[in-house]
Amino acid sequence: MVLVIGHRGARCCAPENTIPSFKLAIETGVNGVELDVHMTKDGEVVVIHDDTLDRTTTGSGYVKDYTLNEIRNFDAGVKFGLEWRGVKIPTLDEVLSEFRNRTSYVIELKHGSDVYPGIEEKVLNLVRKHDVKVKIVSFDFDALERVRQFDDSVELGLIFVGKARWFIDIAKRLKAQWLQAEYKLINENDVKIVHNAGLKIGAWTINDADTAVKLYKMGIDEVTTDNPSLIIGSLKRHK
Ligand code: G3P
Ligand code: CA
Repeated sequence: MVLVIGHRGARCCAPENTIPSFKLAIETGVNGVELDVHMTKDGEVVVIHDDTLDRTTTGSGYVKDYTLNEIRNFDAGVKFGLEWRGVKIPTLDEVLSEFRNRTSYVIELKHGSDVYPGIEEKVLNLVRKHDVKVKIVSFDFDALERVRQFDDSVELGLIFVGKARWFIDIAKRLKAQWLQAEYKLINENDVKIVHNAGLKIGAWTINDADTAVKLYKMGIDEVTTDNPSLIIGSLKRHK
């Protein structure tokens, strides 16, 4: 079985990393939604991809330079389309509270405590508060190490650009269960090596049907996509 994860929700068709985007992905039938987190000046964990507000919202500058109240003044929908005007940057608390166990969550820490002091513990506390199924992933392995220090059993995934087999030893050291690889660099042999090491492998970000089917045939465990409807449809036809 291959899991299909909605990248920033259903980024194809709704403003990324917002409540409507996650709702659409869940309604489409994903196994989980992926989201990115940053921290405000007053220590709130918010869901947005970039360090800065400019690309996806009406704000400008760094997320970390604004309080949550200030962040709430910005619109995270209108740049995607006028019909999305009024959509806000959600907090992680709001997302988990909205969808609870209707889905699972892949939470990407864009930075760890070196940039956002205490973010690893804050995220874990929210996960415990809502009692939801999550995997915490990051390119920042120090952040993953801190998560593991605070929680011995939460699922962890290393994100990287490179061959999956290079990261097996690091994953074992962090007691991570997953390797999150860029799909272009995955081949069948790597999938076998990762599985033989007792780990699982996910691929990002797949937005065409043929690639999803090819990865499925290689034995991949998870595909992350901006377009859940397309990928779920194509995988169904090949199962
Ligand atoms: O799941 C990994 C993927 O989300 C990393 O890329 O830039 O979309 O956060 P990015
Ligand atoms: Ca991400």
